[in-house]
Amino acid sequence: MTSPESYKPFKGRVALVTGASRGIGRVIARELATLGADIAINYFRNHAEARLAQQEIERLGVQCIRVAAHLAEPAQVRKLMNAVRDKFGRLDFLINNAASGVNRPGLELEEKHWDWTLNINTKAPWLCTKEAVPLMSEGGRVVNISSLGAGRVFPNYTSVGVSKAALEALTRYMAVELAPRGVTVNAVSGGYVQTDALQHFPNRDDMLASARSKTPGGELLTAEDLAKAVAFLCSDAAAMIRGQVLVVDGGMSLTL
Ligand SMILES: NC(=O)c1ccc[n+]([C@@H]2O[C@H](COP(=O)([O-])OP(=O)(O)OC[C@H]3O[C@@H](n4cnc5c(N)ncnc54)[C@H](OP(=O)(O)O)[C@@H]3O)[C@@H](O)[C@H]2O)c1
Repeated sequence: MTSPESYKPFKGRVALVTGASRGIGRVIARELATLGADIAINYFRNHAEARLAQQEIERLGVQCIRVAAHLAEPAQVRKLMNAVRDKFGRLDFLINNAASGVNRPGLELEEKHWDWTLNINTKAPWLCTKEAVPLMSEGGRVVNISSLGAGRVFPNYTSVGVSKAALEALTRYMAVELAPRGVTVNAVSGGYVQTDALQHFPNRDDMLASARSKTPGGELLTAEDLAKAVAFLCSDAAAMIRGQVLVVDGGMSLTL
C-alpha cells in the first residue's frame, strides 16, 4: 500500500503559484510540493517571506525557485515565465492566485484603484496564461483563485468582486480555447480565510463573525481546504472538468 509520504503523483511536474510568499498561495505551493511537484513561487515585494516559503518547500525534497514580479506589468510576467523556462524547461500547473485590491465602496473608489485591482486580479491571470501555454503540454492545468464576491455583494469589496467575476468569465473562455491542447482551466472560489488580506478590511471582525455564524458546522475555512481543491483540479482525475468554479466555503454561501 502507498504511504502518504511516498504518494507523489506530481513528481516530475512543475507548478507556478503566483502570490505564494504568504497566505493561501504559500499553502497551495506547499501542498503541490508535498505531492511531488517542483515549484516556482512568484511574489511582489515581500522578499523575506518568499525566502522562507522557498526554504519550506525545499525541505520537502523538491526544487523551488522564487521570482519577484509585479504581475500587472507584461514585461514582468515575461520575466517570470522566462525564469520558469530557464530553470525547468516546462510548466504543468499554473495557479493564478496573486491578488490585491482597494477595499472601499464603489462610489469611493478612484480610477487608479480600479486599474490597480483589475490589472493584478484579472489582466495578470490572462497574461500569465498566455505566456504559460507555450511551456505546457497535454495534461497542463490552469487554476484561477476566485472568491464568493464574484457573484455576491460584500461591503468594501466592489473592485475585487468585479475583478473576480471577470476572472471566472476568463476561466470559461480559456477552458474552451485551451481544451484542444489538453490543458484544462478551472477556478477555485473560496469563502473567508484568515490571511493578511483580511487585515485591510475595516469590517474584518464582522466578516469573520459572519463566516462563523453562517458556515454550517461553524468551522472556519482554512487555506489548506483551498489548496486540496487546487491539487484535485491539477490531478489526472480532474481531466474532464473544464471551465468550472469549484466553491470551497464549508457551505457558507448556501446560507447567505
Ligand atoms: N483571504 C480570503 O479570505 C480569501 C477568500 C477567497 C479567495 N481569496 C483569494 O485567494 C488569493 C490569495 O489571497 P490571500 O488572502 O492569501 O492574499 P494575501 O495574504 O494578501 O497574499 C497575497 C499574495 O499575492 C502577492 N501579490 C500581491 N500583489 C501582487 C502583484 N502585483 N504581483 C505579484 N504578486 C502579488 C503577495 O506578494 P507579497 O508578499 O510580495 O506582497 C502575496 O504573496 C487571492 O486571489 C484572493 O482573492 C482569499
